[in-house]
Amino acid sequence: MSVTTPLQALPIDELRQRSSTKWRQYPPEVLPLFVAETDFPLAEPITRALARAVALGDTGYTPPEPGIRHAYAGFAQRRFGWTVDPARIRTTCDVMMGVVELLRRVTEPGDRVIVTPPVYPPFYECIPEAGAVVERVPLIEGDSGWALDLLGIEAALAGGARAVLLCNPHNPTGTVHSRESLAALADLAAGFGATVISDEIHAPLVQPGVDFTPFLDASPAAARIGYAVVSASKAFNLAGLKCALMVTAGDETARVVSGLPAEVEWRTGLFGAIAAIAAFSEESDAWLDAELAALDANRRLLAELLAEHLPGAGYRIPDAGFLAWVDLSHLGWGDNPAIRILRDAKVALLFGPLFGDEGRGHVRINYGCSPEVLREAVERIAALVEP
Ligand SMILES: Cc1ncc(COP(=O)(O)O)c(C=O)c1O
Repeated sequence: MSVTTPLQALPIDELRQRSSTKWRQYPPEVLPLFVAETDFPLAEPITRALARAVALGDTGYTPPEPGIRHAYAGFAQRRFGWTVDPARIRTTCDVMMGVVELLRRVTEPGDRVIVTPPVYPPFYECIPEAGAVVERVPLIEGDSGWALDLLGIEAALAGGARAVLLCNPHNPTGTVHSRESLAALADLAAGFGATVISDEIHAPLVQPGVDFTPFLDASPAAARIGYAVVSASKAFNLAGLKCALMVTAGDETARVVSGLPAEVEWRTGLFGAIAAIAAFSEESDAWLDAELAALDANRRLLAELLAEHLPGAGYRIPDAGFLAWVDLSHLGWGDNPAIRILRDAKVALLFGPLFGDEGRGHVRINYGCSPEVLREAVERIAALVEP
């Protein structure tokens, strides 16, 4: 049991005044648990930093080093025990843009890039956007959770794939990959002269007690061949402010990042940088711990709610993040149960099949909300099946 008091989500009436996608895509009778935004109040240091910027009219361009590199290096050291060289970090507007820009440099048009489905749907779009082609090597589900299919990845690399787009922690399963599997992945990629780009946007939300390894810290080979793309945007709900970081630990990878056009860095939002500096500062650690406590309670509550109201649903409690991957195949609502759930229960979930073929019969539930909203969502869905 956590000793930290869980952060409380804002009341739903207040949330409905927000103008972000989560609150504007559907009419008010719909409970929105789809897009990856959270319902918590902002961390106080972020509110203060942004309020100050607004008061000053500080709305110009982002300077080359607003302080974010050192802020992130401090965060990585405190939270992950990972030593990052601030000189080997550059910023851009968001994680997916960072991934696209890196893919453009490490692949040639038509090269294959491995993804590990079920996986965050934009991965299927950012690879073609960079001129490359998606190669799918699904995660393997075993008794203790999901894992990388290292034999499958080896075969794909042997067949000519040039890069792996990793998601660590993994969206939608919340899997935190083990140090051993990441080191093995790095050895494989290094052996075939390939690259690993690790999307670590959910890393700040690894639950206490779970051993998270940043990919670049997994082994000397990982440090040499890997790129990490990170952001404060998921943990601190800052997606609209546009700021992400590309992190490297090797000489060659650092050269690639420093060779990116200046324009890539100019796209960083100033409010995103200001908010991220506050988020990554020690001052925001207590808020993050309180958020983790709230998410810990919710991920367990969801297990209880599903067992009570939707027995037969497949759900593994995630190790990180605020997204739950739930198998509702047993209900017989077809490949995409979220369609019926939206229409009849007025609960918006993310469609499982968007994550790949493995997502048939699945939904993704965002539990970064109040326990009351989570309970109501499951009860509304259950009302469709209960007599
Ligand atoms: C794994 C993953 N990567 C990237 C993103 C999007 O990040 P950004 O808005 O910084 O591009 C998300 C958003 O939910 C995500 O889950």
